[in-house]
Amino acid sequence: MSEWIIQTHALTRDFGSLRAVDHVDLKVRSGSVHAIIGPNGAGKTTLFNLISGYLKPTSGRVVFRDRDITHLPLHKMAHLGIGRSFQITNIFPTLTVLENVRLAAQARGGDNFRLWKPATHLHQYTEQAYAALQQVGLHERALQIAATLPHGDKRRLELAILLAGDAEVLLLDEPTAGMATEQVPILLDLLRQIRRGTNKTILIVEHNMSVVMSLAETITVMHQGRVLAEGSPAEISANQTVREAYLGTAFTGGRQ
Ligand SMILES: Nc1ncnc2c1ncn2[C@@H]1O[C@H](COP(=O)(O)OP(=O)(O)OP(=O)(O)O)[C@@H](O)[C@H]1O
Ligand SMILES: [Mg+2]
Repeated sequence: MSEWIIQTHALTRDFGSLRAVDHVDLKVRSGSVHAIIGPNGAGKTTLFNLISGYLKPTSGRVVFRDRDITHLPLHKMAHLGIGRSFQITNIFPTLTVLENVRLAAQARGGDNFRLWKPATHLHQYTEQAYAALQQVGLHERALQIAATLPHGDKRRLELAILLAGDAEVLLLDEPTAGMATEQVPILLDLLRQIRRGTNKTILIVEHNMSVVMSLAETITVMHQGRVLAEGSPAEISANQTVREAYLGTAFTGGRQ
């Protein structure tokens, strides 16, 4: 089996005359934490949308393990084991925390949003949902309506939804965005725990450099749709081109 769980080949996406992702060759090692960084508008979210199938490329290919999935319809992609969270939280606000996670467990079990299901199945999905909530430390809020959670807990709920869906690859788009500062280390610990306790691959877009530097084994830097550099955290922080294009401002906290 290939050591690469995801590979993109000359992946390109245009929006009209704007080339948002420009011939990106990315290789994500199975079981690794791989971060994508770069300034606003660099094409990071678009790249995630292409990998997870929410967008189709203008040209180029996406390979999952050894399978070309470029032209696979979205509903088939989800079953392959590529799960993603969104830059903006994507949960059902009027459902409880538990119901949100249980839907993910049901989708994985093939009972996609069916209204009628045998009670035994429901019980099993509830158990799986509780296990995922326990993993992220949200089990005590299981019966709370999702919309009423503080922002940091919503991000943890998203993570529980991904875990319940049993994705092999977790695509996390700015998981710390909008989080209170004191919540960030909690999420970081949680991601480390997932990394240690499972063989999941984590592909993460993140502006918080201390999160990126302490978590990722490989960092890909994007700039204007292209890959500017790739390497270990030490290599990237020492890279002069990266410092000039991005890190200089990121390290001094110049996100916006
Ligand atoms: N659906 C779309 N239609 C038109 N242009 C788009 C669309 N999605 C993204 N873009 C443009 O593509 C470029 C890349 O956007 P993208 O959201 O991928 O950047 P990003 O690196 O995720 O930025 P940020 O750090 O701000 O989240 C931007 O110029 C953006 O305006
Ligand atoms: Mg983005």
